[in-house]
Amino acid sequence: MPFRHLPESSVIARAPGKINLVLRVGPRRADGYHDLLTCFQAVDIWETITLSPAEEFSIAVTGDVNLGEIPLDGNNLAMKAVAAVAQATGRTDAVAILIDKKVPVGGGMGGGSADAAATLLAINELWQTGLSQVELLDIAAELGSDVPFLLEGGTALGRGRGEILEPIKSLAFSWVIVPSMEHLATPGVYGRLDELRADVDVVLPESLPDAFLDALYRGDPEALAPHLINDMAQASLDLELELEATLEKGLQCGALAVMVSGSGPTSAMLARDDAHANAIQASLRDQGHHCVITSSPARGAHLVRR
Ligand code: C5P
Repeated sequence: MPFRHLPESSVIARAPGKINLVLRVGPRRADGYHDLLTCFQAVDIWETITLSPAEEFSIAVTGDVNLGEIPLDGNNLAMKAVAAVAQATGRTDAVAILIDKKVPVGGGMGGGSADAAATLLAINELWQTGLSQVELLDIAAELGSDVPFLLEGGTALGRGRGEILEPIKSLAFSWVIVPSMEHLATPGVYGRLDELRADVDVVLPESLPDAFLDALYRGDPEALAPHLINDMAQASLDLELELEATLEKGLQCGALAVMVSGSGPTSAMLARDDAHANAIQASLRDQGHHCVITSSPARGAHLVRR
């Protein structure tokens, strides 16, 4: 991060990406959303947002992920976060937004939502608007279903459309994350899921299995593996045809479990520990897959520099 080129008054914040260890999806609601029963876990892959006072609003994106489809206008979630805080507080001063991306774009890991979460913290600090965490969480829920979790971080049970959160205790886990060349838009994956389940009487489970919660609590990847489940996986597999082969390769390389991350098409592969994750990564790289190792849970959005 090129600190020396930034004005003294710049504020830097970062927020993590996430995976959903359990993602159960209820029927489509009247408002178009779906009620969820999910276990979010933040991963050690970070979006970094720098906000600087400026003459006019601007937004720029850097990073080593595919940046092609990121909007650079008022549709960007970081810009929407600034607008939401402006609305809530009456502030109108322009800011320059710089986003450094590490979370795969359009991959089901909450990268855009992380940008919004980090921006909420940064703008509250830059403008000294003094919004509490509870107030920020309310604004976050308006910006997107995953934004409240990425403010909080760690591990959480998510209900409603994902914005109603309860913390869960978890020790650390090691993962191999395999981004896809393709991007999937979340509404399209939910739409495909609705089609696939058109004739099914969908019932959302009420709680997470005790054995799953126990495996998290004890940090036991072997016990966790059989409980990883994503109701959106088939819809994502239907829309991204390479994904099934990628998941299959993860199992062949020895992953304890493989899953589609959120709405996909990023894959998350559970390893026994860091050494095992390294071995899986090396095998996948030999087969031409770009992948990164990470650990979970990670903390939520936080200020890096004021
Ligand atoms: O909340 P967010 O803006 O991230 O959601 C994007 C889209 O994903 C929604 O417009 C909706 O189509 C779909 N969605 C859903 N149920 C959820 C979360 C998102 O149907 N729980």
